[in-house]
Amino acid sequence: MRDLNEHNITDAVLESFAATPNTRLLTIVNSLVRHLHGFVKDIEPTFDEWLYAIQFLTRTGQLSDSSRQEFILLSDVLGVSMLVDAINHRLPEGATQTTVLGPFFVDNAPDLKQGQDISQGAAGTPLYVEVNVAAASGEALPDAVVDVWQSDSDGFYDVQRADGDGHNLRGRFRTGPQGELRFWSITPTAYPIPDDGPVGDLLKASQRHSWRPAHLHFMISAEGYQTLVTHIFVDGDRYLDSDTVFGVKQSLIDTFPERPAGTGPDGRLLASPWRQLNYSFGLMPS
Ligand SMILES: [Fe+2]
Repeated sequence: MRDLNEHNITDAVLESFAATPNTRLLTIVNSLVRHLHGFVKDIEPTFDEWLYAIQFLTRTGQLSDSSRQEFILLSDVLGVSMLVDAINHRLPEGATQTTVLGPFFVDNAPDLKQGQDISQGAAGTPLYVEVNVAAASGEALPDAVVDVWQSDSDGFYDVQRADGDGHNLRGRFRTGPQGELRFWSITPTAYPIPDDGPVGDLLKASQRHSWRPAHLHFMISAEGYQTLVTHIFVDGDRYLDSDTVFGVKQSLIDTFPERPAGTGPDGRLLASPWRQLNYSFGLMPS
């Protein structure tokens, strides 16, 4: 391990990890070293560029906390999140396609009853959500846990609002006896991912926009089934073909049809037009 140079240092580093007892860790570290060294040899960074990369990653970590996850954003805009998702969800017919978790999921969302309104009076076009949860093979899944979360009409999530209590436009429901779930919300809007940090710097330097098309997030778990993490996107959104995190799938786009003012499906009186989402989810056995 002396006189190492650009031609033999990769082998020396691989050799230094050779005794790693955890075989999965050994596989990962070996691949990391080979690809990372290959990357460095490919771009031949100056020392200043190496230092910039260190500072970029340092800022990414320093910006991350319980309400902001800059590392997930970095993974998202590099397409890594969707690549990991694709590798882990090679799904058959009948199973709902998956997409990114995103950085705005909150694990302790309030438990809500069917029919409740998660918008708590927030401005926006009312949305009545009617979804059904079933196994990919068809049978209904009662008592499935359904987390929902979305942006408000200004394009912000509750956790981005300094004045909120962190629990608006999100909630945790349980499906009914036929796997059904009904609730009110507002129609989600397109929004930019937070672009005031290193990920935003990267997007600006690359002349990429930071927008995501409007969508409603779902995380659905049921005993004996793989947890489904997905969104339903609003058809017609201008960003459907340039989602900055590469998360759009055709089967996850719905028209959210507009309905006239009047009486809603549950008897609620609506003074203005509202929209409706009908969707059926199919879960894979675990
Ligand atoms: Fe989102």
